Amino acid sequence: MEKVVLAYSGGLDTSVLIPVLKEKYGYDVVTLTANLGTESDLNAIEQKALKTGASQAFVDDARDIFVRLFCWPGLQAGALYEGIYPLGTALARPLIAKLLVDIAHQVGAKAVAHGCTGKGNDQVRFDVAVAALDPTLKIVAPVRDHKMHRDEEIKYAQERGIPIPITLDSPYSIDENLWGRSVEAGILEDPWLEPPEDAYQWTTSPREAPDEPQQVEIEFDEGIPVALDGVRLAPVDLVRQLNRLAGVHGVGRIDHIENRLIGIKSREVYEAPAAVVLHFAHNEVEKLTLSKDQMRFKAKVALEIADLIYNGLWFSALHQDLAAFVASTQRYVTGSVRVKLYKGNISVIGRRAQHPLYDKMLATYDTGDTFDHASAAGFIQLFSLPLRTQAHQQWLGLSSDQILRLSAGEKVDDEQPGDSAGDPPPGEEPPDGAPVQP
Ligand code: ARG
Repeated sequence: MEKVVLAYSGGLDTSVLIPVLKEKYGYDVVTLTANLGTESDLNAIEQKALKTGASQAFVDDARDIFVRLFCWPGLQAGALYEGIYPLGTALARPLIAKLLVDIAHQVGAKAVAHGCTGKGNDQVRFDVAVAALDPTLKIVAPVRDHKMHRDEEIKYAQERGIPIPITLDSPYSIDENLWGRSVEAGILEDPWLEPPEDAYQWTTSPREAPDEPQQVEIEFDEGIPVALDGVRLAPVDLVRQLNRLAGVHGVGRIDHIENRLIGIKSREVYEAPAAVVLHFAHNEVEKLTLSKDQMRFKAKVALEIADLIYNGLWFSALHQDLAAFVASTQRYVTGSVRVKLYKGNISVIGRRAQHPLYDKMLATYDTGDTFDHASAAGFIQLFSLPLRTQAHQQWLGLSSDQILRLSAGEKVDDEQPGDSAGDPPPGEEPPDGAPVQP
């Protein structure tokens, strides 16, 4: 029997896939469960896989790799999909794909399998990442192939005595790891309705959050978070601690209408306390340490990287190129930020850096100012040269009112100098010879 390595979470979908892959596809099923920080009982998941018919069940604690090699680069890049989603689910997929491919090689499997539907982004991410790492591997996606629905899955599970997880009571589809919790489906599908409190698990409702704000100091070393409140922490511990801390204050809730790769819009709810706080704080250190040009250009790269991560192209050559650019920008992003967490909000209190480009002696309005005021006049002379040329050549006959209206995008009759803003009133006859405004 040929072997297939199944990405196994222990949930209903992937549990049902074990007998499906054996009976309908004729595979010997090996499971791989990646621990990316869900606090679930991995031992129980392993036992369940074996009891459900897997011949081998692997559990891989990939938390450290996940944070160091996926979350940190995403953070340094400033990768927020559509400006808001820290990409928790999207960042995890290429890592799970990598683990699947490794196990496939280890056990001599020619195929890997996942339980994604044909409607989401995750199928794309798995398929594309596996293809990049080993294009000879076959990818099996029974849920996509057979459009398996939940009720059928439950029936199938019941027939085979597969324990149905209690999380099935949850009206939502949930994916979680250290970088965030993604919640979909159920009542959330109506974008007009506020997500019910039970959609949130990691964050306190801002109304119930403590009345006292909490300050946190976050230290970065070359763009990587290394300490909270002066205590150096391992990557996984830092993220876990910050998830808890910010979650208590209701920070990290995201409600987004999202453009999926496969072409539909969906309403997504996320909880990502640590990711939200870290993106915010990291940006503050960058404001002190990157030049204006670096910041402007990096923002464009961030957009590109976020799309590319979302679209499953983590292992693409373009990503490798852009990641090298991002890494280079982080050389001086070393410093600390003090933030305040309060009832769902995060604000900055202070920031400092080892090699800041902010220079108080240049910025100050007090004595001791080192800025050369005299050179400002010459600078402005050249800076305004194109505009002054245009004013001479093209606008000299225009009144200030006409220039005002041109700048508002209105058409201006240049044969009528002195025409004042708002004149002529709508519907009135234009004066003779004046072009009729559309
Ligand atoms: N829309 C998010 C993404 O594509 C979250 C997907 C959540 N996945 C899930 N199986 N519930 O990254």
